Amino acid sequence: MKAVYFDTHGDLSVLRYGDVPTPEPAAGWVRIKVAACGLNYLDIFSRRGMPGIKVELPGITGGDCAGVIDKLGQGVEDWQVGDRVLPIPHHVDWTGGRFELLGETRRGALAQYCTVRASQLMRIPDNVSDEKAAALPCAYGTAHRMLHTRGQIRAGESVLVLGASGGVGTACVLLAKRAGCTVIAAAGSDEKCAKLTALGADATINYATTAIDSYIRDKTGSLLRGGGVDVVINFTAGDTWTPSIRCVKRFGRLLCCGGTGGYAAPTDIPYLFTSEMSIIGSTGWTREDQQACLDLVAGGDFDPPIDRIVPLSDGIAAVRALEERQVFGKVIVKP
Ligand SMILES: NC(=O)c1ccc[n+]([C@@H]2O[C@H](COP(=O)([O-])OP(=O)(O)OC[C@H]3O[C@@H](n4cnc5c(N)ncnc54)[C@H](OP(=O)(O)O)[C@@H]3O)[C@@H](O)[C@H]2O)c1
Repeated sequence: MKAVYFDTHGDLSVLRYGDVPTPEPAAGWVRIKVAACGLNYLDIFSRRGMPGIKVELPGITGGDCAGVIDKLGQGVEDWQVGDRVLPIPHHVDWTGGRFELLGETRRGALAQYCTVRASQLMRIPDNVSDEKAAALPCAYGTAHRMLHTRGQIRAGESVLVLGASGGVGTACVLLAKRAGCTVIAAAGSDEKCAKLTALGADATINYATTAIDSYIRDKTGSLLRGGGVDVVINFTAGDTWTPSIRCVKRFGRLLCCGGTGGYAAPTDIPYLFTSEMSIIGSTGWTREDQQACLDLVAGGDFDPPIDRIVPLSDGIAAVRALEERQVFGKVIVKP
């Protein structure tokens, strides 16, 4: 089968498009003929290599996969060849310490076929396209858990989203608006900010030209005068961590699910204890989160933005666009 793969970890230059063996489903697993694969920043981290995470080489990324079951492994009874499915990319056994992730520790869907456990499968409603379904698991599942389960966002709260133009970012904007929050979306260009306004953001900040902490202080006042926003969402960390702490109002929350810009970041300790804010981590998502996002799209008034849909043969260029921050929303690759 054709795939975008790498034989060794490294930068974009290690990616290849070509033939690799077609996987066979083990007992209890199924093989999926991939119809659409959604890219995430995880594809980049997995290809570069992450400490403590073992990737089977040749590596094939792509955890978000919509497609049809093409072959059943021995003993699979509840599913049929031809069923349209959107697997939950991860398999976690907390008691046994076992963690598997499609497109990371296991070969993924940036290929014509991939295999998953039958227990990971979820049906795609008829009125949801392969492309929209494949946009959901990692970005929308993560945002759903971070905002609702971990962040407990409420109608009327103000929410500042950094990196709002990306997959998780646009998901946070849409979900927070849907929850009745006022959303300030921060991104790296005027063009992206205009698109965020069109998506529903109440205000935008181009952080390439405007410091987010100065902007929030100007608009809402200082911490001691009740200024700041209720919730800041930051999955960029690095240089953005300290200023984003200074945007949180008294008793507010800072939600974090990643650190694209760097994991080592100083914390403004006086601001942390003076504000009595909470820093809340969030990782991954549950079957319920993924189902909730699928139901929202099936409901007809929730529409994840897709920047581009490209053939698998252009998959390397699509990863490049994501890595170079040339994307608004999701990138979908179709074998
Ligand atoms: N813990 C979890 O379970 C989990 C799950 C999903 C994602 N994540 C993490 O969340 C982050 C976002 O993932 P994603 O798939 O949404 O990525 P994405 O679609 O590429 O979006 C990331 C956005 O962040 C902004 N950004 C700011 N600083 C950046 C930098 N130094 N390098 C690249 N982009 C930067 C970019 O927008 P501008 O150009 O407008 O700044 C970009 O659009 C990643 O760190 C990812 O690992 C974690």
